[in-house]
Amino acid sequence: MSPGYVELFYLVATALFIFSLHWMNDPKTARRGVAAGAAAMFLGVAATWAQPFVVNHGWMVLAVVLGIAVGYPLSRVALTAAPQRTALSHAFGGLAAALVGTGKYYLWLSEGPEELTTFRMVAIIAEVILGCITFTGSLFAAGKLQELRWIPQRPVTYPLQNVFNIALLLVAVGIGTWLALNPATPEAAFLFPVVIVIALMFGILLIVPIGGADMPTVIAILNSYAGLAAVAMGFVLENNLLITAGALDGASGLILSIIMCKAMNRSYLNVLFGAFGSAGQTAAQEGGEQGEYKADTPQSAALIMEQSTNVVIIPGYGMAVAQAQHRVRELYDHLKKRGVTVRFAIHPVAGRMPGHMNVLLAEADVPYGDLVEMDDVNRDMPQCDVALVIGANDVVNPAAALDDSSPIYGMPIIEARKARTIFAIKRSMNPGFAGIENALYFDDKTWMLFGDAKHVVGEIVKELSGDAGTG
Ligand code: TAP
Repeated sequence: MSPGYVELFYLVATALFIFSLHWMNDPKTARRGVAAGAAAMFLGVAATWAQPFVVNHGWMVLAVVLGIAVGYPLSRVALTAAPQRTALSHAFGGLAAALVGTGKYYLWLSEGPEELTTFRMVAIIAEVILGCITFTGSLFAAGKLQELRWIPQRPVTYPLQNVFNIALLLVAVGIGTWLALNPATPEAAFLFPVVIVIALMFGILLIVPIGGADMPTVIAILNSYAGLAAVAMGFVLENNLLITAGALDGASGLILSIIMCKAMNRSYLNVLFGAFGSAGQTAAQEGGEQGEYKADTPQSAALIMEQSTNVVIIPGYGMAVAQAQHRVRELYDHLKKRGVTVRFAIHPVAGRMPGHMNVLLAEADVPYGDLVEMDDVNRDMPQCDVALVIGANDVVNPAAALDDSSPIYGMPIIEARKARTIFAIKRSMNPGFAGIENALYFDDKTWMLFGDAKHVVGEIVKELSGDAGTG
C-alpha cells in the first residue's frame, strides 16, 4: 500500500477514535462508540500491516492470534471486575511501549548509532520509563483489586516514602537525560537496563501506598501514562496514528481521573500520595460507637413501598455483585403499575467504574429518563417517602457530609438519610469500599434488609406480585 493511502487510513482511524470517545459519553450511543473504536483499531492494524516494510507476516499472524487469545477471555470478565481488567490492558500497553523502545534502541545502537538522535533518544527514554511504570504499576494495581492474597490490600506506608519514590524517579530521569545526550557510548548500553529496572520498581512503589476507594482512580491515572507512552512510541516509530491515538488515550484517562477525584472531593496529589484508607485512618473511623440497627423483612418493605407516592432507588456496588438489575427492573414495574413515582439516584462513583450503574440499569431496560443525577435527587429527598438503598454504602454515608474527621469528609453523597423511611439491602453490617462504618444504617428511620440483593429484591417483587404464598 502506498504511503498516501496509509496516511488516509490513519486519518479515518483517528476520526473514528474521536467519534468513539464522543459516542461513549451517552448510554444511548455507547455501543456505537465501542464499534467505532474497534473499527479504528482494525483499520490501524490493517494499514500498518499493508506497508512494504512489513515482510515477516508470520510474526504479525502470531501477534494477532496471541492478542485474540488474551483479549477474548478478558472481554468475558464480570462488570464488577472491570477495573482490574482495564488495569491489565494498560499493563499490556505499557509493556508493548517499553519493549518497542528497548528494541529500537539496541537495533539502532548495533546497526546505525547515528540514528540515535537526541530527539529520538528523548522519545525512547520517555517511552521506556512511562511504559515500565505503567506495566508494573498496572499489574500490581490489578492484583490489589483482584484481592490476591500475597498483595497487601491496604495502603502500605513508611517514613520518607514519597521522598524516596520521587528521588528514585529523579535518578531514572537523570540517567535517561545522560543517555539521551550520550546514546552510543559503551556505558550507555549498560545504563539503559538500569533505567528499565528503576522504572519497573517505581511502578510498584507508586501503587504500594494507594488503596481503598482510590484504586479505580489510580487505574484512570495509569491509563493516561499508557497513552503518553503510546505518544512517545509514535515519535520513535514515526507513526502518526500512534501519536494521535495515544494523545486521545492519555487525555481521556487524565480527564476521567480528574472527574473521579472531583466526585470523591479529593485532589490529584492526595490520591497519589495521601495513602487514603491506611490503617490509622480506618481505625480512627471504626472507633466510634454507632448504637443499634433495626432489621426488617422484604414483605413489610413491599407493603410500605406500595403505599408510597415517591420512591427513590439508590443502587451501588452490591447490586452489581448480586446481578440484581433485572429484579430491580421488575420491582420498578410493579411499583409504577401501582402509581408510585420511582426514580433511580445515580452517584457518579457508585460501583467500581464510571457509569457502572447506568450500564447495569440499561441492560435491564430501565427507562433512562428515570435515572436522576445526585444533585437533582438530593433536592427532592426530603419529600421522598422511601429511599431503597440496594448494595450502596459509601455513596450514602452521612459521614461525608457531617463528620469532618472522616476520611471521606467532603465527598458529595446521595442524601438518603433525608428520606422519610430508608430500607438498606446488604448482606451484613460490613463496611463498604472505603472501609468505614456508615451511620445511615443506625439511623432511627433506617431498616436493614439483610441478604443478597437479588434475593431480597426478588422477595419484595414476589410480595408485590401476590406470589409470596405460592413461591
Ligand atoms: P461500596 O461502598 O463498595 O458498598 C457496597 C456494599 O454492597 C457493601 O457495603 C456490601 O455490604 C454490599 N454488597 C456486596 N455484595 C452484595 C450483595 N451480593 N448483595 C447485597 N449487598 C451486597 O459501594 P458504593 O456505595 O457503590 O460505593 C462505591 C465505592 O467505590 C466508593 O467508595 C467510591 O469512592 C469507590 N470508587 C468508585 C469509583 C467508580 S468510578 N465507581 C471510582 C473510584 C472509587 P455487605 O458485604 O454487607 O453485603
